Amino acid sequence: MGKALEARAISARFNEQVILREVTLHMPVNQVTAIIGPPGCGKSTFIRCLNRLHETTPGATMSGEVLLDGHSVYDMDPTEVRRSVAMIFHRPNPFPTMSIFDNVAAGLRLHGLRNRAKLAESAEQALRRAALWDEVKDRLHLYSSALSLGQQQRLCIARALAIDPVAVLMDEPASTLDPLSTLVIEELIEELKRQYTIVIVTHNLQQAARVADKTAFFLEGEMIEQGTTTALFTTPQDKRTADYVTGRFG
Ligand SMILES: Nc1ncnc2c1ncn2[C@@H]1O[C@H](COP(=O)(O)OP(=O)(O)OP(=O)(O)O)[C@@H](O)[C@H]1O
Ligand SMILES: [Mg+2]
Repeated sequence: MGKALEARAISARFNEQVILREVTLHMPVNQVTAIIGPPGCGKSTFIRCLNRLHETTPGATMSGEVLLDGHSVYDMDPTEVRRSVAMIFHRPNPFPTMSIFDNVAAGLRLHGLRNRAKLAESAEQALRRAALWDEVKDRLHLYSSALSLGQQQRLCIARALAIDPVAVLMDEPASTLDPLSTLVIEELIEELKRQYTIVIVTHNLQQAARVADKTAFFLEGEMIEQGTTTALFTTPQDKRTADYVTGRFG
C-alpha cells in the first residue's frame, strides 16, 4: 500500500536565488500525480524536496512542510525518507560494473539482508514488479550495461522497489527512451500505482494525459493550477495553464 505525500507551502532556494514559492500540493495515495511546466520552472527541485534530496546540493535550502502519510519527512531520518520515497532519474543510472542481480540486491544488502535464498527471492519479486523479470531471468549475472536503455530504467525501478518504498518519484523517466520503451514504462506506471503513490515529472503533455490521475502546472517556481488531469487539460481555470496545455508556450 502506498502513502500520500503532501507539500505545504514549500519554498526552495539555491543560495540567493528563489526557485520555488510556497508550493502546496496533495499527492493522493495510489494515484499518479504529474508535474508539468516549462524548463527551469522548478519541477525537479520540487520533487527533490519531497524526499530530502534537495538539501544534499550545496547552497540549497528550503522551508515549508512535506508530509508522508501525515508525518513530516523533515522530522525523520533522511536516509529512511529516501528509502521510503524513491527517486527514478531521467537518465537510467544502474551500477554499470555490477550484474543485473547485484544491482537489485545492492539496496537489500545495504539494509542488512545476507541470506542468499531471501536475497534471490526479493530480487525476483522486485524484477517482476518492474516488469523486467521475463527479459532477464536467464542472464541475471550479466553486467547491467548489457541491457537496453529501457531495460536499464526498469532495472533502476526494480532496485528502488526492492527496498519497499511507499512512494516513487520519477523525474522524466522516459525522456531518453524510444517510443516503444516509453510505452512499456507508461504501462508499468499504471501497474505500480496499485501499490505505490507515484509522482512523475514530464515534459510530455500526452504522457501526463495518458498516465496521470492528477496534474499540477508549475510556472516560474509557482504552482499555478492543479486538478484532475481531465479537468486541467480540458477546462483549465487559469489562462497561463490554458496557454501551456494548448502548446502556446514552453
Ligand atoms: N544545483 C543547482 N544550483 C543552482 N541552481 C540550480 C541548481 N539546480 C537547478 N538550479 C536552478 O533552479 C531552477 C529550477 O531548476 P529545476 O531543475 O528544478 O527545473 P525543472 O523544471 O526541473 O527544469 P527542466 O524541465 O529543465 O528539468 C533553474 O533556474 C535552475 O537553473
Ligand atoms: Mg528537471
